[in-house]
Amino acid sequence: MTSVTKRFGILTSGGDCPGLNAAIRGVCRAAYDKYGMIGVGFANGYRGLISGDYRVLRREDFWGILTRGGTILGSSREKPFKTGGADYDVVGEKVSAIKENYHELKLDCLVVLGGNGAHSTAYRLAQEGLNVVGLPKTIDNDVQGTERCFGFHSALSIATEAIDRLHTTAQSHNRVMVIELMGHKTGWLALYAGVAGGGDVILIPEIPYSAKIIGKRLKKRLEEGKGFSIVVVAEGAMSREEAAMDKKERKRRRENVSIGYRVAREIECEANIETRTTVLGYVQRGGVPSASDRALATCLGATAADLLARGEYNRMVSFTNDSVTSVDLSVPAGKSKTVPLDHYMLYTALSVGACLGQ
Ligand code: F6P
Repeated sequence: MTSVTKRFGILTSGGDCPGLNAAIRGVCRAAYDKYGMIGVGFANGYRGLISGDYRVLRREDFWGILTRGGTILGSSREKPFKTGGADYDVVGEKVSAIKENYHELKLDCLVVLGGNGAHSTAYRLAQEGLNVVGLPKTIDNDVQGTERCFGFHSALSIATEAIDRLHTTAQSHNRVMVIELMGHKTGWLALYAGVAGGGDVILIPEIPYSAKIIGKRLKKRLEEGKGFSIVVVAEGAMSREEAAMDKKERKRRRENVSIGYRVAREIECEANIETRTTVLGYVQRGGVPSASDRALATCLGATAADLLARGEYNRMVSFTNDSVTSVDLSVPAGKSKTVPLDHYMLYTALSVGACLGQ
């Protein structure tokens, strides 16, 4: 089949997640085998595109990577358009270097696997005249323009298993177990893992909580003879008092203590129940992708190759309404998809008696 794109560049940007390699394989297998394209892999996200750290991908490079965690290309949080700080003077130079490398390597398009930040950069590069196709990845599931990002399902399984494990020890010791999950400024992961793991309290950034209300709920459980409780907290969650503060004041008041520990302290104060905290951290991002993420990443990757072949540039592939489609790059750029307050999973959490701190 003839293809508009002959040579494409590919990079993975931002925090890694399970499914990146499956997506790289999906793009490359379809691009090479269906359309006869050649791919150039950049090392460590936009950093490699700036410095010209690349390799032409051979078929062997994407053999056997479907099940592997992380990214064979490496990643970084390099943001070439970010101004301020030490980078202020070099923004122009970085963008020129990117354009130079893109043209020198005779690329017809750049494929970017990333989250919000990566797609903001991709959009800016498209405005600078480069052709770009994006794929949404992140355990946070917070990319606008797609219902699902690959990486989310794997992290959800890991987080749910952790909650299951905390349940048994919480029960044995009649304790409150607080588990802090990732999710950046959104509550997708905490909400879904909280429901899947039967959390008694689920706190997400979209719903600022009241410590008093949490304390009341936990005391009520005690009165009902339930000596233990599970509290699932998103890393971006905040109290009503914090939500009313400006960003600077909020940061100062937090004293670099992560939310899981602050909530535990508040629970001990309000309910006087022995409480322990687990911050699950990077375990959520590591390891093999779930079957669901492998299938999704492969599907989005192969669809990206179709866009390249048709010359449909400056789009992000998207999984919406149980089908694969694409949206303009401006849709994910510079935005974060938060949990809508009328989301069915919030309604579900409340229906099964979880407290959302409100
Ligand atoms: O975006 C994925 C994510 O894991 C977030 O959930 C978390 O806030 C952040 O990355 C951690 O970033 P870093 O890898 O820079 O420590």
